[in-house]
Amino acid sequence: MNQAKHIAIIMDGNGRWAEIQGKKRVKGHEAGAKVVKEITTYCSNHQDIERLTLYAFSTENWKRPRLEVEFLMKLLESYLKNELPVYLENNVRFEPIGDIRAFSASLQKTIQEVKEKTAHCDGLVQSLALNYGAQDEILRAINKLKNCENDITEAMLSNALDCPHDVDLLIRTGGDHRLSNFLLWQSAYAELFFCDTLWPDFSISQLEKIIHEFTQVERRFGGLK
Ligand code: FPP
Repeated sequence: MNQAKHIAIIMDGNGRWAEIQGKKRVKGHEAGAKVVKEITTYCSNHQDIERLTLYAFSTENWKRPRLEVEFLMKLLESYLKNELPVYLENNVRFEPIGDIRAFSASLQKTIQEVKEKTAHCDGLVQSLALNYGAQDEILRAINKLKNCENDITEAMLSNALDCPHDVDLLIRTGGDHRLSNFLLWQSAYAELFFCDTLWPDFSISQLEKIIHEFTQVERRFGGLK
């Protein structure tokens, strides 16, 4: 039976969730942050799950209206500050991925602090993808390796990525069927699950159902049964 050791989620649908209820889009992000907390806590208590990687802000999200971007930045900062004791309580290690140099000094400091203060935790690793794009991640990895004398191997490139861990199960909420520049290298053999539920409505029982389906899938990694 497969084990979903590394689950990655594209959390889509916050804006539509809010609009359907006649609320401002940012209310959807607020509701989405609560689901991030619930799902992280669930995963931290699940014996098979080692890693949860969540797409929180993409390299393309800067194109959104300024006020929405500012709101997301503030939400992220307050989320991390509030969650630090929860990470510690649940033995969750926070390992951000993405190029955080584009963020404000204060947000970078908060990200760094939560990372350092949870570095000793050896339970679930929660990675938030922050100013993350897979193409950008791969390019930065190639640039790190460009002066090496020998040919670059798969293992070398993989280790130079922000996230050097293969994804087992990749979930996208919100109804679209695309990867949106998320963990492209790491998802080479991931099982992909797309669901119509908007992220703020995504529940633990849905995640449990997807994990159950995943355990039944026959994964061949290009080989034969
Ligand atoms: C997509 O919804 C979601 C995002 C832009 C990023 C995810 C952000 C959160 C879940 C909230 C903040 C997270 C943390 C960790 C504090 P969308 O706005 O693209 O939705 P739409 O497709 O309905 O417009």
